[in-house]
Amino acid sequence: MSQTVNDFPVVPDLHWCASLQTGDARMDQTHEEFVDLLARLRALHGSDGQHGADPLPLFRQLVAHTIEHFEQEDRWMVATGFSADNCHSLQHKSILDTLQAVETHYLQGDSTIIGRMADALAEWFPQHAQSMDAGLALHLKSLAFDTRTESMPDPERVRPASMSGCGSVSCS
Ligand SMILES: [Fe+2]
Ligand SMILES: [Fe+2]
Repeated sequence: MSQTVNDFPVVPDLHWCASLQTGDARMDQTHEEFVDLLARLRALHGSDGQHGADPLPLFRQLVAHTIEHFEQEDRWMVATGFSADNCHSLQHKSILDTLQAVETHYLQGDSTIIGRMADALAEWFPQHAQSMDAGLALHLKSLAFDTRTESMPDPERVRPASMSGCGSVSCS
């Protein structure tokens, strides 16, 4: 049974661990940085959702990191045969749109929205990493795509824009 406070479920702390690994070293390095930034952001707010310090600078740092994180995966997908509007990339876009909206609402006076968003990200990230990102890592490995050099030995094996689904169980 999950823990609750005032009938709201408490999202547990998220730390980098083996179950989050996808098997691609560069992807995992980016994910570890994301998890660490998110943990620092969540450490700023207490159980009442109020922040002890202004969370905006760290939130903006997390957003900038997330933009690069998602652009990196989107680039690898397009290079290995996915359409630009495949479901994994669309999920990235949806998250980024939400992050932009969160900053707007925070600046308009919703003082707890960054904390609530940070909790939502901690709940979202493990299932994303373990489904869409892990599926992408397997696909890249099957083509021997090197995420450090962003190249592969046999580019002729790729049919450009031939895949719109991500292949994960969450993709229907
Ligand atoms: Fe990712
Ligand atoms: Fe992703």
